Amino acid sequence: MLEPSCGDGVFVEALAKASPRAKFCFTGFELLDEEATKARQRCLAVPQFESRIRNQDFLDFAISRILTGQTDFDCAVGNPPFIRYQYLPEESQRKAEAVFKLLHLPFTKHTNAWVPFVLAAVAMLKPGGRLGMILPSEIIHVMHPQSLRTYLGEVCSRLLVIDPEELWFDGTLQGAVILFAEKKHQTGDHCDGVGIVRVSGRSFLSEEPSRLFNDTARINGKTVEGKWTRALLTIAERSLVDSLSEHPEVHRFEDIAKVDVGIVTGANKFFLVPDDTVSRYGLARFVHPMFGRSEHCPGVIYDGYQHAQNARIGKPTNFVWITAPKGGLSKKVLEYIELGEKEKLHTRYKCRIRKPWYTVPSVYATEVCMLKRANDTPRLILNELSAYTTDTAYRINTKTAVPEQLVYCFLNALTALSAELEGRHYGGGVIELVPSEIEKLLVPLPKRLRPNMQQLDKLVRKEIAQVVLAQQSKHVLGELGVSPADQKRLLLAWLRLKNRRQRASEEDTNEQDAA
Ligand SMILES: C[S@@+](CC[C@H](N)C(=O)[O-])C[C@H]1O[C@@H](n2cnc3c(N)ncnc32)[C@H](O)[C@@H]1O
Repeated sequence: MLEPSCGDGVFVEALAKASPRAKFCFTGFELLDEEATKARQRCLAVPQFESRIRNQDFLDFAISRILTGQTDFDCAVGNPPFIRYQYLPEESQRKAEAVFKLLHLPFTKHTNAWVPFVLAAVAMLKPGGRLGMILPSEIIHVMHPQSLRTYLGEVCSRLLVIDPEELWFDGTLQGAVILFAEKKHQTGDHCDGVGIVRVSGRSFLSEEPSRLFNDTARINGKTVEGKWTRALLTIAERSLVDSLSEHPEVHRFEDIAKVDVGIVTGANKFFLVPDDTVSRYGLARFVHPMFGRSEHCPGVIYDGYQHAQNARIGKPTNFVWITAPKGGLSKKVLEYIELGEKEKLHTRYKCRIRKPWYTVPSVYATEVCMLKRANDTPRLILNELSAYTTDTAYRINTKTAVPEQLVYCFLNALTALSAELEGRHYGGGVIELVPSEIEKLLVPLPKRLRPNMQQLDKLVRKEIAQVVLAQQSKHVLGELGVSPADQKRLLLAWLRLKNRRQRASEEDTNEQDAA
């Protein structure tokens, strides 16, 4: 048994308790002397094991073993270090990258220390060998471990993730999961794919892992390639999503619209100002309406009325876009620019790479916008005022769809569910989508549907997301012929994934459904 980062040896002690009669040949690695000494002491208490604690960098050992193709371990366990690549010492960064290279996998600087640990541990397993590790839950849904997911899909015959409702480690925002993997016996063997078991409390610990493996539905080897979020769906939910994705009136977002980032000012405090700043510095000639936060647009329409309301309560609704050279500017405007320079804004990276620093580039508005982050579900906004948006929002140009139709139809349970499957979330539970994820969303656009934008705007302002999505699903998905039972199935799947992201319990899903 291998433990690549054994710390003070709690795992070897636990192993001896769990299997008192078993005989293990245990090799643990630990970088810190003090921890390695503690681990050695723990090993002395389990003389039935042949244990060796190596006080050295696991990655050095792993790199030499991968180079020589040695696969000596029957199993690997552990809780590898969670450290973002950028915070690793340079030497460790190089070693981490080497593991990817040796396994012919694409490397990204967004990776984290735990990823090369798992890659290397799996690489060193014998055919049929098994791994069980505690890992951050981001293995399921963020982009950076894609090389690891792909590798596991290629070399393993089965994969299982234990996904707890609770946070297992105090003081962490990030959830942890347990990954179980079994390496293929032969390269050409079939991969059963990955299954995810949602657990509550610790009772799963008394279950036979083999039963959990056998009883959990899996997404197959082919789909293991992408994010693993699809494994959070039941078989019925997955086949419903798959069949709807084939419907002629359901489109991939990229086929009907183009996503572009919002305006990058480099200094929002200077470029986004309330009305009183405009009058104090005589900026009226140079300002344009702008919004960038969801509270600036609580509905789905951004119009003159909403803009005036935001301005009245002192929100920074004006975008300062000074396009004239300094010679043509009034004293007051020059004073405003000097104010920014006094605060050294012109030396900030985004500002100093353009000339003059106060003329923001790539300024244009689109008829449709989308805020990058959302609490419950992403929505599109019909930008009737042609307001500009900062980079907290995306600018969306429709290709084939009519803007009203796109904004209206975007709110439904199928699109909301596909956002949960494609998007990412961090500690706070807010969903975020990057353009490549938005492009994959499924959007139903029934041709015969006549959108009632005013009604939808009112509904979104008044009701919680569940109610909005239920009603919209009736209109949009109903028009496609999706039965009320299937609408509900999609809605419940969305609710379950949303609650998982927000760390609400399974009971909340049931209660919210009943409501
Ligand atoms: C998250 S702790 C886990 C310790 C132990 N398995 C447990 O669960 O209590 C990670 C351990 O990995 C060690 N570590 C970090 N980088 C290492 C490396 N390159 N080689 C060996 N050990 C390392 C750290 O010193 C730390 O003790």
